[in-house]
Amino acid sequence: MESVRRVSIAGTGSYVPERVLTNKDFEEMVDTSDEWIEARTGMKERHIAAPEEATSDLAAKAAVKALEDSGITAQEVELLIVATLTPDMFLPSTACFVQEKIGAKNAYCYDLGAACSGFLFALETAKNQIASGAVDTALVVGAETMSAFIDWEDRNTCILFGDGAGAAVLRAGSKGRGVMDAVLGSDGSLAHLLWIPGCGSRHPASPEVLEKRMQFVKMEGREVFKHAVTRMCESVVKAIEKNGLTVDQIGCFIPHQANIRIIDSIAKRLKIRDRIYVNVQKYANTSAAALAIALDEAVKDGTIKRGDLVALTVFGGGFTWGATVLEWEK
Ligand code: ACO
Repeated sequence: MESVRRVSIAGTGSYVPERVLTNKDFEEMVDTSDEWIEARTGMKERHIAAPEEATSDLAAKAAVKALEDSGITAQEVELLIVATLTPDMFLPSTACFVQEKIGAKNAYCYDLGAACSGFLFALETAKNQIASGAVDTALVVGAETMSAFIDWEDRNTCILFGDGAGAAVLRAGSKGRGVMDAVLGSDGSLAHLLWIPGCGSRHPASPEVLEKRMQFVKMEGREVFKHAVTRMCESVVKAIEKNGLTVDQIGCFIPHQANIRIIDSIAKRLKIRDRIYVNVQKYANTSAAALAIALDEAVKDGTIKRGDLVALTVFGGGFTWGATVLEWEK
């Protein structure tokens, strides 16, 4: 079904912290090697937040850039969603901290939790609120400080993640099709394959929980890998078809940036090698920020041009997954 009002992306922005951690740096920390990390993941380096930087700081910097890019002021924003699994704290939402930092005083603000899929879920949520007429202008941010939630002694996970933020300003009205209809999904029966089990209400913070290192990301990498490829392939094809398009018409595919081998598998299955965007080598997996950073970069480096059809697809803890299609008009 066509949205009630068309919705376009008026601007994008992204920010990564200054400090760079290379694969070589990990050789001093855990039993690994530069070669292993690059061959198994495609990652070369990642950015890590400074001790005084939290998720809302990264998010606010990306948000300000997206607003500048759009020509829309912070006061015009009516809805602000931050997608994150690494909030500043449980109460209040990171979105409220971002509101205060950027001066979006007319917005209502909340966080959205869909792990690595969060930015796409937030984009779809904001699009629908604009399409229904509830608001005219929304700011959507994907932001993570993964470095605060990874076990720096676990070589299976610590090499995989980075910190960063990306943002998009959405507004009512579009000459073209703008942000089209998404296909989203979840499967809570597989939650245990990728989670942070401790320090929530299930296992509140205690010396025992900390001793078992339950406050950190735990992942069954091989299982996650298989599901990520299947779900991203399925959902992106469904989203393209739902919008009356074909894979051949898409000018640029942006998948979640979790592992070059996942991206290569998708490219091979869908035969889109020459049209799939990759920046995982620079940032590693920045979870909910990854898609937003990649979209911003692809626009700024000229990969995406006015009139292009762009397909976005994600996969993350939950499990959660989805895809959507945009007609780029900026
Ligand atoms: N350095 C050296 N060896 C390592 C390292 C490391 N950093 N990490 C694991 N190994 C070892 C393992 O211990 C294992 O050794 P063993 O065979 O002696 O037991 C061996 O390498 C192979 O381990 P696998 O897990 O089978 O390696 P695989 O090739 O599957 O790569 C990886 C692991 C990179 C984690 C991959 O499975 C992956 O990318 N999974 C998907 C992650 C993902 O998509 N996440 C997205 C969602 S994230 C979110 O929502 C927050």
